[in-house]
Amino acid sequence: MNILRVGDSAWAAVTKSSAFVFGLEAAGEDSRVVQWYWGPRLPDEALAEVVRQAPRRIHSGFHDPRDVDELLPVEGGRRWGVPSLQVTYEGGVRSVELAFAEAVVADSEIELVLRDPLGLRVGLHVRVASEVVERWVSLTNEGEHAVRLGRVDSGSWVIPERAGYRYTGVAGAWAQETQVHRAELAVGETTFTSRTGTTSHRANPWIMIDAGDATEELGEVWSVALAWSGSWRLTAQRRPEGDVAVTAGFGHDGPTWLLAPGESLHTPPVLGLRTSGGYGAASRAWHDYARRHVLPTPFEERPVLYNSWEATWFDVHEEGQIELARRAADLGVELFVVDDGWFGGRVDDRRGLGDWWPNPDRFPRGLSKLFDAVRELGMRAGLWVEPEMVNPDSDLYREHPDWVLHYPGRRRDTLRHQLVLNYGRADVREWAIGWLSGLVSEYGLDYFKWDMNRSFTQAGWPEAGERADLLWIEHTRGVYAVLDTLRERHPDLRIESCSGGGGRVDFGILRRTDEVWTSDNTDARDRQAIQEGYSYLYPAGAMSAWVTDSPNPHTRREVPLAYRFHVAMAGALGIGGDLTRWSAEELAQARSLVAAYKAVRPVIQHGRLHRLAGDPGVTASAVQYSHEDRVVVLAYNPFALAKRPPRRVRLAGLDPSALYESAEGERWHGQTLMSHGLELPTWFITGPDYRSEMVVLRRVSG
Ligand code: GLA
Repeated sequence: MNILRVGDSAWAAVTKSSAFVFGLEAAGEDSRVVQWYWGPRLPDEALAEVVRQAPRRIHSGFHDPRDVDELLPVEGGRRWGVPSLQVTYEGGVRSVELAFAEAVVADSEIELVLRDPLGLRVGLHVRVASEVVERWVSLTNEGEHAVRLGRVDSGSWVIPERAGYRYTGVAGAWAQETQVHRAELAVGETTFTSRTGTTSHRANPWIMIDAGDATEELGEVWSVALAWSGSWRLTAQRRPEGDVAVTAGFGHDGPTWLLAPGESLHTPPVLGLRTSGGYGAASRAWHDYARRHVLPTPFEERPVLYNSWEATWFDVHEEGQIELARRAADLGVELFVVDDGWFGGRVDDRRGLGDWWPNPDRFPRGLSKLFDAVRELGMRAGLWVEPEMVNPDSDLYREHPDWVLHYPGRRRDTLRHQLVLNYGRADVREWAIGWLSGLVSEYGLDYFKWDMNRSFTQAGWPEAGERADLLWIEHTRGVYAVLDTLRERHPDLRIESCSGGGGRVDFGILRRTDEVWTSDNTDARDRQAIQEGYSYLYPAGAMSAWVTDSPNPHTRREVPLAYRFHVAMAGALGIGGDLTRWSAEELAQARSLVAAYKAVRPVIQHGRLHRLAGDPGVTASAVQYSHEDRVVVLAYNPFALAKRPPRRVRLAGLDPSALYESAEGERWHGQTLMSHGLELPTWFITGPDYRSEMVVLRRVSG
């Protein structure tokens, strides 16, 4: 039982360590469903103590902000904060007025039903999934007229009263995704949003808030995340009166959605997580949630993959690919993925997207010869696809110019010479399932890298008339539906989500993909900061990370092979360099590092992550993974310092009284490793730049 009744019309959603208490503060025609508590788990008999039955009055007189504590503050009545729900009824009537109707309770789920007499039914859903409280909203038009929806968020969360408020989030750009930002939450409304039609590189749909006192290992942290892969908006409002609330949902400012009589709309879930133990504990709880409730194959070991993109760019040919496959297999690679350039007339980024058959000049016998060779070398086979896109210079576009997002009489702006196919259309979805599924069957494919390389522009859907803005929802749902159908038809198929790098990383896409590509930037040093931001919410096992060439093609930075490996080994290891140019010595070193990775792969992919120390990519830093009886520490020192850098790294989350043994047979108590630390040669010998190492410990007693 995760949903407990704690009063006449009050409930608690309880997890092992926290409680979220909510209910009806005021009934009748101006009903208010509010949050009373979101904090550490209280004894069951104490839960009722946090329920405040009398309506709270902040101020009397002309300002009475009633929406402060509400689960879904509407636009209507005496409310002036950020509305989570905005509706325009027939005749331009805009004030939503909700009356509580009933509560429908199941074991770990509850729906609170409210109705607006103008015909809108609003369901507030709350469900518990491990430490996370999942919430979403269902709307049904029970009236006789269509209603127009503005903002429809999945829910608003109140951050309990504290002396201060600080937020942590990630922001970035192409090649610089998921950079951690941390600052005091300003009084006012802080909005993070994507208007691109995808999750975007610019921000990721989550926020963490603490009282300004949390550290990596200590302190209460409240996190809110949205499980959605299209445009989104998350607003944290800190009122001058002191309250802080976070509301999040799909869509962004501008588009409005028409709900016809009899129709319903369900929002994606917004997820709330309260933890103690600092940002580290928050991240570990999110990873646990991802593994238990989100990822389709969380406990499968990700294969070491090879991807040919940076080796060949668009210059993809049968013989060249077979040569790369031979070299990759020799290193211990288990999955060979052919990237862009294998299909239609695709010899550069100007043509071919949409024509998903092997390029007859490059693969005169189709892909069979290549994939037969890949299999003979003992590897699995994967292909890059970009199913949501079309180049105007393609047979597909010449045949179906109406399939793309467009408005009559407006330009069709291209980006990277391509347009976006409208996945809201059933014919587009059927076409996609047809050829994607056909490729899997014909070649026995094991893996797709599903890319999405541009933002929406002129996002029209002429056939949908007044409902055209629904595109912002229906495109993403269409993509989800195609992915779901593919997985259903081909249960052994594994899928990587990519969007010009890390433009589509979120709990919505992770429900139907196995890995995500976090950035096109494969420079090991830049990657460290990107990986750190990624790790705040998402688990290492789903993070595809490649070792590429030096100097790096994107930054021209030269980084030793071991450092590049150690950075990529912090996730699902892949190799993406031009192996025909690696020396025999480099190939030998790579072979032994691949073997070393495989030996600890479950620890990294499924283990508990501790970000131990340092500013990744800038100063000496280390990450630790613990799983069953093993502990892996990856330590990095990018820059030599004349001044002595720290010598020891203190480990975390060990059993204090147990003994841990290194590969060399040295033993320490867990408490020693946590309090005194482990001495790292990488850290205390100065120079040269870019030193790294992996330390593996095994628990031998206790
Ligand atoms: C995007 C991806 C890259 C690569 C190219 C191919 O940029 O993020 O990894 O697949 O497309 O065109």
